[in-house]
Amino acid sequence: MNTVLITGASSGIGESLAKYYAEQGFCVYACGRNQEKLTALSQQHSQITPLAFDLNDKAAIFGALDKNVKLDHIILNAGTCEYIDNAKQFDGDLFARVINTNLISVGYCLEAWLPQLNSGGQLGLMSSSAVYVPLTRAEAYGASKAGVSYLAKTLSIDLASNNIGVSCIHPGFVETPLTDKNDFPMPSRITSVQAAQAIYLGMKQKRYDIHFPRRFTLVLKTFALLPFFIWRKLAIRMIKE
Ligand SMILES: NC(=O)c1ccc[n+]([C@@H]2O[C@H](COP(=O)([O-])OP(=O)(O)OC[C@H]3O[C@@H](n4cnc5c(N)ncnc54)[C@H](OP(=O)(O)O)[C@@H]3O)[C@@H](O)[C@H]2O)c1
Repeated sequence: MNTVLITGASSGIGESLAKYYAEQGFCVYACGRNQEKLTALSQQHSQITPLAFDLNDKAAIFGALDKNVKLDHIILNAGTCEYIDNAKQFDGDLFARVINTNLISVGYCLEAWLPQLNSGGQLGLMSSSAVYVPLTRAEAYGASKAGVSYLAKTLSIDLASNNIGVSCIHPGFVETPLTDKNDFPMPSRITSVQAAQAIYLGMKQKRYDIHFPRRFTLVLKTFALLPFFIWRKLAIRMIKE
């Protein structure tokens, strides 16, 4: 039986991923902080093993998984989003919270679990389509995900000799508790089940760039081709409207 470890599996995209992988016959290690939700998930699917810990606690990450377990896929999906509402009164603590959860913890997870990833295995890192163009109020979130995307690119070069593939995941808007908090329009928003299916397929096909829904991400990728000064003018005009 193939084995996958998924962080952020207690909610949203990660929860749908855990269920979808289990339905495809994988043995799933589902990570999160919410023990109750993870236990409920494991009661629905016998192949799901819950692992509850905080990703900001390095020792907890190292103690979470039995060192004898061999993994075929790892998906570092967990993340948080907080916006900088006033750039002039920059909230450094908010910035640190988001960078720690979305980027620094990924380094701890890699140190802990890459040794357990089989040759031929696939590592998925959760970035965001927010990295394609700089977006208003996304100083912390965007910087954390830009870091994840750079990390994924370098790992895809350096892990090639270990026969380990890397996928960088760039979703558009997905219906989850994280986006339920947003107070702005979210075009082309898809369900977390659709997101999970796209990620599973991309990981199975060992694709580097997993992005969806394409009608949305291709528009952003096109904007990313513009010289920055043009995008900057457009973005400032959009804030004023
Ligand atoms: N939804 C979107 O539109 C969208 C778009 C692009 C990228 N993404 C990315 O996709 C990932 C999943 O997002 P989502 O929308 O599914 O959000 P979500 O429903 O809020 O789920 C976030 C998950 O991350 C876990 N998590 C957060 N902080 C943690 C910590 N310190 N330690 C351990 N686990 C932690 C949560 O666990 P607990 O609840 O148990 O604490 C939860 O399982 C994130 O990285 C997000 O940035 C989402």
